[in-house]
Amino acid sequence: MRLFVTIAAALLCPVVLGAESEQIATFKSFEEAAYDCAPYYLLDDSTVRRFLANPEHPSGCGTRAGIKENVIWQFFEPYRCNDYAERTRECIAGLRIQDVNERAQESLRCYLHHYGKLIPSKKYFVPLPDSGLLQLKRDDYLLAGTPWHVLEEVAEGNFSREYELAKALFIGAVRGGFLDFSTKEFYMDRVYTQFTFPSLLSEEAARCQAKVTREFHTNDPIALVFEKIKRCLEVYQPLLDLLKESAAQLVAKKPKGCGGKSSGCGCHSCCVERNDAYYPRPHY
Ligand SMILES: *[C@@H]1O[C@H](CO)[C@@H](O)[C@H](O)[C@H]1NC(C)=O
Repeated sequence: MRLFVTIAAALLCPVVLGAESEQIATFKSFEEAAYDCAPYYLLDDSTVRRFLANPEHPSGCGTRAGIKENVIWQFFEPYRCNDYAERTRECIAGLRIQDVNERAQESLRCYLHHYGKLIPSKKYFVPLPDSGLLQLKRDDYLLAGTPWHVLEEVAEGNFSREYELAKALFIGAVRGGFLDFSTKEFYMDRVYTQFTFPSLLSEEAARCQAKVTREFHTNDPIALVFEKIKRCLEVYQPLLDLLKESAAQLVAKKPKGCGGKSSGCGCHSCCVERNDAYYPRPHY
């Protein structure tokens, strides 16, 4: 019975809660990204085709759509020399251009010359904008059924109820496409693409996660994933900031008449205290 209720809640939650988003990870190829950007730069398809045929030649889309260096590297197959990344970084660091669009074009040129071969049709992870991350977090709280009083504490910067936070982070990691749910391993390249700390791609971060998997004995994926985030990923502090800000946004919009003790989960009626039985806490 409880399983049925949980599945029903999981399926209905995004609808019932009015969560703004469900699975929100985005994957795009370089080509798709170029075609996507065309309409709002008022470029026609033939211009995009010309650009894709010869990305080095400034022709609109590539010139004008800003290039994010933490994203662009994914579209290239690195050249077989050791210092391709170093050379690309030097090339970009050497650019003396202020204009964003020209800078984007020149950065792309650095990648084409020094980093590797452009693979235009392979799909890669596209990071969320900051506003998207906040939206993801607001919905994660709703889906996790985080109670109002916890949201209020978090909004004040009190992170003492770790398991409530762990639940919201777990849901966010899966929905954002950062975590392989079957293995409970992070896709570190995606986490890096989103948060851009070079340490995320280090051997040490990988070793640390393997160590947590080995040594942290639990059957609870939420606790395991939280431990990995806390101990091994340099994103823990930025995530706390994100949790705090998104909690504050929800608290600011809190419906009146709930007497301050309602559950955060709209799966039950707004003013009914959340039934903790659906959210068993492990002992760890
Ligand atoms: C933080 O919240 C906990 C309850 O979760 C409470 O016991 C504690 O006093 C709070 N700390 C501060 C500094 O308000």
